[in-house]
Amino acid sequence: MELLSSWCHDGSLPQSYVMPPEKRPGDLVIPLEKSIPVIDLQCHDRNETIRQILKAGEEYGFFQIINHGVPKDLIDETMNVAEEFHAMPGLDKERECAKDPNGSCKLYTSSYVYPREDFHLWRDAVTHPCRPLDQHIQFWPEKPTRYREVVGAYSVELWKLSCRILEFICQGLGLRSDYLSNELSQVPKIMINHYPPCPEPSLTLGLSKHRDPTIITILLQGQINGLQVFKDGRWIGVEPLPHAFVVNIGYLLQIISNGKLIGAEHRVVTNSRDGRTTIPFFVYPCDESLIGPEKDLVNASNPAIYKAFKFTDFVAAFILNPDDEALKELISAPSN
Ligand code: OGA
Ligand code: NI
Repeated sequence: MELLSSWCHDGSLPQSYVMPPEKRPGDLVIPLEKSIPVIDLQCHDRNETIRQILKAGEEYGFFQIINHGVPKDLIDETMNVAEEFHAMPGLDKERECAKDPNGSCKLYTSSYVYPREDFHLWRDAVTHPCRPLDQHIQFWPEKPTRYREVVGAYSVELWKLSCRILEFICQGLGLRSDYLSNELSQVPKIMINHYPPCPEPSLTLGLSKHRDPTIITILLQGQINGLQVFKDGRWIGVEPLPHAFVVNIGYLLQIISNGKLIGAEHRVVTNSRDGRTTIPFFVYPCDESLIGPEKDLVNASNPAIYKAFKFTDFVAAFILNPDDEALKELISAPSN
Protein backbone atom coordinates (compact mmCIF):
# COMPACT_ATOMS: atom_id res chain seq x y z
CA MET A 1 0.00 0.00 0.00
CA GLU A 2 1.25 3.44 -0.85
CA LEU A 3 1.93 6.00 1.85
CA LEU A 4 -0.72 8.67 2.14
CA SER A 5 1.84 11.48 1.88
CA SER A 6 2.75 10.26 -1.61
CA TRP A 7 -0.66 10.89 -3.19
CA CYS A 8 -2.74 12.99 -0.77
CA HIS A 9 -2.28 16.19 -2.74
CA ASP A 10 -4.30 14.79 -5.63
CA GLY A 11 -7.48 16.55 -4.55
CA SER A 12 -10.42 14.43 -3.50
CA LEU A 13 -10.99 11.98 -0.68
CA PRO A 14 -11.04 8.40 -2.00
CA GLN A 15 -14.14 6.40 -1.12
CA SER A 16 -12.07 4.00 1.01
CA TYR A 17 -11.43 6.89 3.45
CA VAL A 18 -15.08 7.84 3.87
CA MET A 19 -16.24 6.66 7.29
CA PRO A 20 -19.75 5.42 7.99
CA PRO A 21 -21.87 8.39 9.19
CA GLU A 22 -21.91 7.33 12.86
CA LYS A 23 -18.11 7.29 13.03
CA ARG A 24 -17.50 10.63 11.33
CA PRO A 25 -16.15 13.49 13.41
CA GLY A 26 -19.44 15.40 13.44
CA ASP A 27 -19.24 19.03 14.38
CA LEU A 28 -15.71 20.16 13.54
CA VAL A 29 -15.95 23.46 15.33
CA ILE A 30 -15.61 22.02 18.81
CA PRO A 31 -14.53 24.90 21.04
CA LEU A 32 -11.03 24.39 22.31
CA GLU A 33 -11.19 24.19 26.02
CA LYS A 34 -8.74 24.92 28.70
CA SER A 35 -10.37 22.21 30.74
CA ILE A 36 -7.66 19.59 30.25
CA PRO A 37 -5.54 20.42 33.30
CA VAL A 38 -2.15 22.05 32.73
CA ILE A 39 0.38 21.06 35.39
CA ASP A 40 3.58 22.96 36.10
CA LEU A 41 6.30 20.43 36.98
CA GLN A 42 8.51 23.15 38.40
CA CYS A 43 6.11 23.62 41.27
CA HIS A 44 8.22 23.26 44.38
CA ASP A 45 5.57 21.50 46.38
CA ARG A 46 5.98 17.88 45.27
CA ASN A 47 2.82 16.78 47.06
CA GLU A 48 0.83 19.42 45.25
CA THR A 49 2.15 18.20 41.88
CA ILE A 50 1.22 14.65 42.79
CA ARG A 51 -2.24 15.71 43.84
CA GLN A 52 -2.82 17.56 40.55
CA ILE A 53 -1.61 14.63 38.46
CA LEU A 54 -3.81 12.16 40.30
CA LYS A 55 -6.86 14.37 40.04
CA ALA A 56 -6.33 14.88 36.30
CA GLY A 57 -5.78 11.14 35.83
CA GLU A 58 -9.01 10.35 37.65
CA GLU A 59 -11.18 12.98 36.01
CA TYR A 60 -9.83 13.22 32.47
CA GLY A 61 -7.14 10.60 32.00
CA PHE A 62 -5.28 13.46 30.30
CA PHE A 63 -3.18 16.43 31.34
CA GLN A 64 -0.60 18.74 29.86
CA ILE A 65 2.74 19.43 31.51
CA ILE A 66 4.86 22.56 31.28
CA ASN A 67 8.27 23.38 32.79
CA HIS A 68 9.07 19.70 32.45
CA GLY A 69 12.81 20.13 31.95
CA VAL A 70 13.11 18.89 28.36
CA PRO A 71 15.08 21.61 26.55
CA LYS A 72 12.98 23.70 24.17
CA ASP A 73 15.64 23.61 21.46
CA LEU A 74 15.63 19.85 21.53
CA ILE A 75 11.84 19.80 21.23
CA ASP A 76 11.98 22.14 18.23
CA GLU A 77 14.75 20.18 16.55
CA THR A 78 12.91 16.91 17.07
CA MET A 79 9.74 18.31 15.55
CA ASN A 80 11.74 19.65 12.59
CA VAL A 81 13.42 16.32 11.95
CA ALA A 82 10.05 14.56 12.27
CA GLU A 83 8.48 16.85 9.68
CA GLU A 84 11.47 16.45 7.38
CA PHE A 85 11.18 12.70 7.65
CA HIS A 86 7.60 12.62 6.45
CA ALA A 87 8.39 15.14 3.70
CA MET A 88 10.90 12.74 2.09
CA PRO A 89 9.90 10.71 -0.98
CA GLY A 90 8.09 7.47 -0.14
CA LEU A 91 10.89 5.24 -1.40
CA ASP A 92 13.43 7.00 0.82
CA LYS A 93 11.20 6.51 3.84
CA GLU A 94 10.83 2.83 3.03
CA ARG A 95 14.55 2.37 2.62
CA GLU A 96 15.36 4.25 5.84
CA CYS A 97 12.92 2.09 7.81
CA ALA A 98 14.20 -1.22 6.47
CA LYS A 99 17.57 -1.34 8.26
CA ASP A 100 16.61 -3.96 10.83
CA PRO A 101 16.29 -7.48 9.39
CA ASN A 102 13.91 -8.16 12.30
CA GLY A 103 11.68 -5.26 11.30
CA SER A 104 11.78 -3.30 14.56
CA CYS A 105 11.38 -0.01 12.69
CA LYS A 106 7.89 0.07 11.21
CA LEU A 107 6.54 2.41 8.58
CA TYR A 108 2.88 2.25 7.72
CA THR A 109 -0.13 4.15 6.58
CA SER A 110 -3.52 4.34 8.32
CA SER A 111 -3.15 1.58 10.98
CA TYR A 112 -1.13 -1.63 11.51
CA VAL A 113 -3.86 -3.60 9.80
CA TYR A 114 -4.42 -1.63 6.59
CA PRO A 115 -5.45 -4.64 4.48
CA ARG A 116 -8.16 -5.61 6.96
CA GLU A 117 -9.67 -2.15 7.48
CA ASP A 118 -13.26 -1.31 6.53
CA PHE A 119 -12.07 2.23 5.89
CA HIS A 120 -8.68 3.88 6.09
CA LEU A 121 -7.38 6.64 8.33
CA TRP A 122 -5.77 9.86 7.15
CA ARG A 123 -2.28 9.35 8.52
CA ASP A 124 1.18 7.89 7.98
CA ALA A 125 3.38 6.76 10.86
CA VAL A 126 6.82 5.47 11.68
CA THR A 127 7.61 3.76 14.98
CA HIS A 128 10.60 2.09 16.58
CA PRO A 129 11.88 1.07 20.02
CA CYS A 130 14.26 3.52 21.69
CA ARG A 131 15.62 1.90 24.82
CA PRO A 132 18.33 0.94 25.50
CA LEU A 133 19.38 3.37 22.82
CA ASP A 134 22.58 1.56 21.79
CA GLN A 135 20.62 -1.60 20.96
CA HIS A 136 18.22 0.15 18.63
CA ILE A 137 19.65 3.33 17.16
CA GLN A 138 21.59 1.49 14.43
CA PHE A 139 18.26 0.40 12.95
CA TRP A 140 16.73 3.87 12.84
CA PRO A 141 16.54 6.06 9.74
CA GLU A 142 19.78 7.81 8.77
CA LYS A 143 17.90 10.40 6.73
CA PRO A 144 17.15 13.21 7.48
CA THR A 145 20.86 13.35 8.37
CA ARG A 146 20.33 14.39 11.97
CA TYR A 147 17.52 11.91 12.68
CA ARG A 148 19.51 9.56 14.92
CA GLU A 149 21.32 12.28 16.81
CA VAL A 150 18.23 14.38 17.50
CA VAL A 151 15.64 11.66 18.06
CA GLY A 152 18.22 9.77 20.17
CA ALA A 153 18.75 12.75 22.48
CA TYR A 154 15.01 13.33 22.59
CA SER A 155 14.23 9.75 23.57
CA VAL A 156 16.78 9.88 26.41
CA GLU A 157 15.06 13.00 27.77
CA LEU A 158 11.60 11.52 27.36
CA TRP A 159 12.67 8.38 29.18
CA LYS A 160 13.79 10.48 32.16
CA LEU A 161 10.56 12.43 32.05
CA SER A 162 8.53 9.24 31.89
CA CYS A 163 10.31 7.87 34.98
CA ARG A 164 9.50 11.07 36.85
CA ILE A 165 5.84 11.05 35.90
CA LEU A 166 5.48 7.38 36.79
CA GLU A 167 6.97 8.07 40.22
CA PHE A 168 4.47 10.86 40.80
CA ILE A 169 1.61 8.61 39.75
CA CYS A 170 2.75 5.72 41.97
CA GLN A 171 3.04 7.98 44.97
CA GLY A 172 -0.34 9.47 44.21
CA LEU A 173 -1.85 6.00 44.15
CA GLY A 174 -0.24 5.27 47.52
CA LEU A 175 2.20 2.74 46.04
CA ARG A 176 5.99 2.63 46.38
CA SER A 177 7.37 5.32 44.09
CA ASP A 178 9.26 2.65 42.09
CA TYR A 179 6.26 0.34 41.74
CA LEU A 180 6.18 0.91 37.96
CA SER A 181 9.96 1.25 37.54
CA ASN A 182 10.44 -2.32 36.34
CA GLU A 183 9.36 -4.58 33.50
CA LEU A 184 5.98 -2.81 33.50
CA SER A 185 7.43 0.31 31.89
CA GLN A 186 10.79 -0.51 30.34
CA VAL A 187 9.92 -0.81 26.66
CA PRO A 188 9.21 2.69 25.37
CA LYS A 189 8.64 3.30 21.69
CA ILE A 190 8.78 6.52 19.74
CA MET A 191 6.25 7.15 17.00
CA ILE A 192 6.06 9.94 14.47
CA ASN A 193 2.56 10.48 13.10
CA HIS A 194 1.86 12.62 10.09
CA TYR A 195 -1.64 13.79 9.12
CA PRO A 196 -1.45 15.66 5.80
CA PRO A 197 -3.98 18.40 4.96
CA CYS A 198 -7.22 16.59 4.15
CA PRO A 199 -9.69 17.56 1.39
CA GLU A 200 -12.76 16.44 3.42
CA PRO A 201 -12.13 16.63 7.19
CA SER A 202 -15.79 15.97 8.00
CA LEU A 203 -15.81 12.53 6.35
CA THR A 204 -12.70 10.95 7.81
CA LEU A 205 -10.36 10.91 10.81
CA GLY A 206 -6.61 10.84 11.41
CA LEU A 207 -7.15 8.32 14.21
CA SER A 208 -10.46 6.75 15.27
CA LYS A 209 -11.64 6.80 18.86
CA HIS A 210 -9.21 4.62 20.82
CA ARG A 211 -7.41 4.05 24.09
CA ASP A 212 -3.65 3.66 24.05
CA PRO A 213 -2.54 0.10 24.96
CA THR A 214 0.19 1.60 27.15
CA ILE A 215 1.05 2.46 30.75
CA ILE A 216 1.24 6.13 29.85
CA THR A 217 1.79 8.09 26.64
CA ILE A 218 3.70 11.39 26.46
CA LEU A 219 2.75 13.28 23.31
CA LEU A 220 4.40 16.20 21.58
CA GLN A 221 1.47 17.50 19.54
CA GLY A 222 3.03 20.60 17.95
CA GLN A 223 1.04 23.73 17.24
CA ILE A 224 -1.86 22.42 15.14
CA ASN A 225 -5.22 21.40 16.60
CA GLY A 226 -6.50 17.89 16.07
CA LEU A 227 -6.40 15.84 19.26
CA GLN A 228 -9.75 15.40 21.03
CA VAL A 229 -10.59 13.59 24.27
CA PHE A 230 -13.93 11.92 24.96
CA LYS A 231 -15.28 12.98 28.35
CA ASP A 232 -18.80 12.67 29.73
CA GLY A 233 -20.23 11.86 26.34
CA ARG A 234 -18.65 14.68 24.36
CA TRP A 235 -15.43 15.64 22.65
CA ILE A 236 -12.99 18.14 24.13
CA GLY A 237 -10.19 19.62 22.03
CA VAL A 238 -6.69 19.61 23.54
CA GLU A 239 -5.27 23.07 23.11
CA PRO A 240 -1.77 23.17 21.59
CA LEU A 241 0.56 24.90 24.07
CA PRO A 242 4.11 25.77 23.01
CA HIS A 243 6.66 23.20 24.23
CA ALA A 244 4.15 21.42 26.44
CA PHE A 245 3.61 17.67 26.51
CA VAL A 246 0.21 16.01 26.57
CA VAL A 247 0.28 13.05 28.95
CA ASN A 248 -2.40 10.41 28.97
CA ILE A 249 -3.06 7.41 31.15
CA GLY A 250 -2.98 4.22 29.07
CA TYR A 251 -5.44 1.36 29.20
CA LEU A 252 -2.95 -0.78 31.14
CA LEU A 253 -2.56 1.74 33.94
CA GLN A 254 -6.34 2.02 34.13
CA ILE A 255 -6.37 -1.72 34.77
CA ILE A 256 -3.44 -1.69 37.23
CA SER A 257 -5.17 1.09 39.20
CA ASN A 258 -8.40 -0.96 39.12
CA GLY A 259 -10.23 1.82 37.32
CA LYS A 260 -9.12 4.67 39.58
CA LEU A 261 -7.19 6.32 36.74
CA ILE A 262 -8.89 6.57 33.34
CA GLY A 263 -7.35 5.43 30.08
CA ALA A 264 -9.49 7.94 28.23
CA GLU A 265 -10.68 7.49 24.68
CA HIS A 266 -9.36 10.00 22.20
CA ARG A 267 -9.18 10.60 18.45
CA VAL A 268 -7.54 12.84 15.87
CA VAL A 269 -9.47 15.04 13.44
CA THR A 270 -7.86 16.38 10.29
CA ASN A 271 -8.07 19.80 8.72
CA SER A 272 -7.90 21.07 5.16
CA ARG A 273 -5.27 23.74 5.68
CA ASP A 274 -2.36 22.38 7.67
CA GLY A 275 -0.51 19.13 7.83
CA ARG A 276 0.04 17.97 11.40
CA THR A 277 3.00 16.01 12.78
CA THR A 278 2.90 14.55 16.30
CA ILE A 279 5.35 12.49 18.33
CA PRO A 280 3.99 10.09 20.94
CA PHE A 281 6.36 8.37 23.37
CA PHE A 282 4.54 5.15 24.28
CA VAL A 283 5.52 3.52 27.57
CA TYR A 284 4.96 -0.25 27.28
CA PRO A 285 5.66 -3.25 29.52
CA CYS A 286 7.79 -6.23 28.47
CA ASP A 287 5.86 -8.79 26.43
CA GLU A 288 5.79 -11.33 29.24
CA SER A 289 4.67 -8.90 31.96
CA LEU A 290 1.57 -9.79 33.90
CA ILE A 291 -0.90 -6.91 34.03
CA GLY A 292 -3.72 -6.77 36.56
CA PRO A 293 -5.06 -4.66 39.41
CA GLU A 294 -2.36 -4.01 42.02
CA LYS A 295 -3.38 -5.94 45.13
CA ASP A 296 -2.80 -2.97 47.44
CA LEU A 297 -5.46 -1.09 45.49
CA VAL A 298 -8.22 -3.66 45.88
CA ASN A 299 -10.11 -4.72 48.98
CA ALA A 300 -13.54 -5.93 50.00
CA SER A 301 -15.20 -2.60 49.35
CA ASN A 302 -13.27 -2.05 46.13
CA PRO A 303 -13.01 -5.50 44.52
CA ALA A 304 -10.93 -6.14 41.42
CA ILE A 305 -12.88 -5.31 38.28
CA TYR A 306 -10.16 -6.73 36.05
CA LYS A 307 -8.24 -9.98 36.11
CA ALA A 308 -4.56 -10.49 35.36
CA PHE A 309 -3.35 -11.25 31.82
CA LYS A 310 -0.14 -11.33 29.88
CA PHE A 311 0.70 -8.17 27.98
CA THR A 312 1.27 -10.08 24.71
CA ASP A 313 -2.21 -11.61 24.94
CA PHE A 314 -3.66 -8.16 25.48
CA VAL A 315 -1.87 -6.77 22.44
CA ALA A 316 -3.04 -9.64 20.26
CA ALA A 317 -6.68 -9.11 21.25
CA PHE A 318 -6.39 -5.33 21.16
CA ILE A 319 -4.95 -5.14 17.67
CA LEU A 320 -7.54 -7.55 16.31
CA ASN A 321 -10.37 -5.44 17.69
CA PRO A 322 -10.14 -3.07 20.65
CA ASP A 323 -13.93 -3.07 21.12
CA ASP A 324 -14.35 -6.79 20.87
CA GLU A 325 -15.78 -9.27 23.35
CA ALA A 326 -12.53 -11.25 23.25
CA LEU A 327 -10.65 -8.34 24.82
CA LYS A 328 -13.32 -7.81 27.48
CA GLU A 329 -13.24 -11.52 28.24
CA LEU A 330 -9.46 -11.40 28.65
CA ILE A 331 -9.41 -8.47 31.09
CA SER A 332 -12.69 -8.60 33.03
CA ALA A 333 -12.88 -10.16 36.45
CA PRO A 334 -15.70 -12.70 36.75
CA SER A 335 -18.63 -11.01 38.45
CA ASN A 336 -19.95 -12.77 41.52
C1 OGA B 1 -1.77 8.04 19.17
C2 OGA B 1 -2.50 9.31 19.38
C3 OGA B 1 -2.61 11.71 19.04
C4 OGA B 1 -2.14 12.73 18.07
O1 OGA B 1 -0.81 8.02 18.35
O2 OGA B 1 -2.14 7.04 19.83
O3 OGA B 1 -3.50 9.30 20.04
O4 OGA B 1 -2.52 13.89 18.26
N1 OGA B 1 -2.01 10.43 18.80
O5 OGA B 1 -1.42 12.39 17.12
NI1 NI C 1 -3.60 7.52 21.21
